[in-house]
Amino acid sequence: MTPSAIVTTEINADAIGIALQQHQQAILASLLVSAWMVEARDPYTGGHLWRVSQFAMILARKAGLPEAEVQRIAVAGFLHDLGKIGIPDAILGKPGGLTEEEYDVIKTHPRIGSRMLAGHPLASLVDAAVLMHHEMPNGKGYPLGLSGNDIPIDARIIGVCDAFDAMTSARPYRKGMAREQAQRIIDNSLGQQFDETFGRLLIEIGDAGELDHVIAHSDEGIPLLACHVCGPTIVRRSDQHAGSQLACPSCQGAFELGTDDQANFLNRRATPHELEVVPDRSVINALVSDWARKYEMSTRPEVVA
Ligand SMILES: [Fe+2]
Repeated sequence: MTPSAIVTTEINADAIGIALQQHQQAILASLLVSAWMVEARDPYTGGHLWRVSQFAMILARKAGLPEAEVQRIAVAGFLHDLGKIGIPDAILGKPGGLTEEEYDVIKTHPRIGSRMLAGHPLASLVDAAVLMHHEMPNGKGYPLGLSGNDIPIDARIIGVCDAFDAMTSARPYRKGMAREQAQRIIDNSLGQQFDETFGRLLIEIGDAGELDHVIAHSDEGIPLLACHVCGPTIVRRSDQHAGSQLACPSCQGAFELGTDDQANFLNRRATPHELEVVPDRSVINALVSDWARKYEMSTRPEVVA
């Protein structure tokens, strides 16, 4: 091969690599939007996916996992509940406790998510977390009843983070627990309901204040806003500022964002237009580009000078 042919081949390989990367990023972004649509259907869990993704990322990094793995787990944290798309609204959005039959329906979501991913080009990134984030060390979780270290690391990390966020988040029928109380509950169930290693680590970094910027937030520097009827359920997108119109997805009240970053009730119901769900592209794009950067670094051969 002539030198010029070699250069052309290298340029083509680079161009193909870049195109492939952009293609993968677009595929990942569309997967994250699908996961986000699940969250948009549930009026009480705004920001849950972002918080689980952030908690999982912080925990994985603290555990010393390689950075590419840390970013993959952050993506898996965002996608873990993908299968809830197949759970009826009447059960998914039911305030208060579920009957045993309804809980059995909820328990089908990991398998639904895993089936949705079957054949997807990025399935291998997240399939274990999607299928196994409700497994428990004592074998009493679902859907497979795995125990201990048979549960993959990403599923063990996301399982603890998912429960921690559920406990520290407000619901219409209860306030969010204080961080310390949620940590005590995890501590009391280490090795039973919660993975011992990652549960202990979460308590440690929680006590060090390293989770406070994520608890009750829906993005970096954006706390959840309180609806005076429903508690903190209003999610502000990063492109919304003082004067922006907001709506509570739970009671459907109309609000305006004040200069003090509070949601002020406008004494009326929100219009259908104001209640329209709009994915927060900045949250999704940040996850995709962080993942792409670290993924590329981990898959490219090291350049030797
Ligand atoms: Fe789940």
